[in-house]
Amino acid sequence: MKINFTSAIEKAPKGYVRAHVTESSFKRLSTEGEELEVGIGKKFAEVCRRNFILICRSIITTAKQNKVKKLALALDQAAFPKLNDLTATEFGSLVAEAFEMANYEHNTYKTKPKEGWSMVEEVLVCGEISKEAQAGFKRGQLVAQEVNACRVLANTPGGDMTPRTLAQAAKKALQGTKVTLKVLGVKEMEKLGMGAILGIGKGSKDEPQFIVMEYFGAAKNERPVVLVGKGVTFDTGGLNIKTGDHMYEMHMDMSGGAAVIHAVALAAKLKLKANVIGLVPAVENMAGAGAVRPGDILKSLSGKTIEVLNTDAEGRVILADGITYAKRYKPKAVVDVATLTGASLVAVGTVASCFMTNEEQKINDLMIIAEKSGDYMWPLPAWEEYEPMVKGTFGDIPNLSTDGSSRDGGVIAGGMFLREFAKELECLWVHIDMAPRMTARPDEYLAKGAVGAPVRFLLHFIESEVK
Ligand code: BES
Ligand code: ZN
Ligand code: ZN
Repeated sequence: MKINFTSAIEKAPKGYVRAHVTESSFKRLSTEGEELEVGIGKKFAEVCRRNFILICRSIITTAKQNKVKKLALALDQAAFPKLNDLTATEFGSLVAEAFEMANYEHNTYKTKPKEGWSMVEEVLVCGEISKEAQAGFKRGQLVAQEVNACRVLANTPGGDMTPRTLAQAAKKALQGTKVTLKVLGVKEMEKLGMGAILGIGKGSKDEPQFIVMEYFGAAKNERPVVLVGKGVTFDTGGLNIKTGDHMYEMHMDMSGGAAVIHAVALAAKLKLKANVIGLVPAVENMAGAGAVRPGDILKSLSGKTIEVLNTDAEGRVILADGITYAKRYKPKAVVDVATLTGASLVAVGTVASCFMTNEEQKINDLMIIAEKSGDYMWPLPAWEEYEPMVKGTFGDIPNLSTDGSSRDGGVIAGGMFLREFAKELECLWVHIDMAPRMTARPDEYLAKGAVGAPVRFLLHFIESEVK
């Protein structure tokens, strides 16, 4: 969408529908079709950052529902006292992110209707919009375009998204940037000893790939932030095949990988003065003839063996090799992102991602970064007391908790497994189980399907590491 600026709503040329945000609870287009009321059902004085994001999105969805293409809108940060702590740039960025994210529709596979898609083509922002705020709008658009591109990848059906397609998508996402891309195939992974990824990939006719993206925006000797994203292009569960409707939506099991690809692209496009590495182990978890069996033991890149107790806990297995690979960069922080467990949905519902870290004193900072970014996260403990979960019987580390019922503390068990590999890193490690944020909630004014989490968090995290 285009975002333009003018000094007052009265100056909006003919053809623009003038939108008014009110405290009422009505959302309606005037009979002449010239005015659009967007009631927020709340006092402006009560609007916090979270509410405000939703309000901005609802302006766009209301416009879309009323087939409005060109919108003129008066926006004044001062009308929302609780947003006082935002700089003009942050305010602009927040608004533009919300507009662009709300405008996205997953219509790649739909026939275009005669009247075209009901998307907003232009928003004319009216008022005293400072240079700083305008720069914020620009930035917000760039951020949301990457978030939306991430959603496109995650929404692509499994039949059209193989590990190779994901690698090609990374190439496309990084075009025109200073990021170098390297894709390791089976032979290269064999040479390195990445037995965890290779083992999970064996059940599919589409071979696994390991995507490596390197962005050096700071001095070469500056330690990088390494992002590792789960790239399971389809998760059938493998031989422990998923039953009922649990397999539905498992084409989005590469959401973590897609977020990493677009976070690296974003860091490069924003020319951040940081070094950022993106790693995406990409596999399809199938039950083909070569598939890994329960009881099989895989030799990981770290040298440790993984006892596969359940082939459906594949994400942690491939991430193990990703985390070990990160070590070669001598990182200052490693963040892994994965749709890792259904248990995370049981724990927190669909509002926030779960996270764990080896530096407990950073939990608050991480939550603040998450809050500011709009990708909300809630912590779980990575305590030593949970280590019995990852005690192997016939191998070093089991991929299912061996401490009592494997259903207990499912999110933590996933994190504790990864922690065993992260221990070798000697730096900050953050594990994000983003399964709760894989798809949109009905109340967040976003199209059905992927939401592009946690691209915004990763961006804010990288930025927090620069200062
Ligand atoms: N990809 C799934 C987790 C998932 C479930 C993501 C629902 C998004 C929505 C993961 O690979 C998986 O199957 N995990 C198992 C782990 C279990 C076998 C320990 C699960 O959650 O049941
Ligand atoms: Zn699985
Ligand atoms: Zn999975």
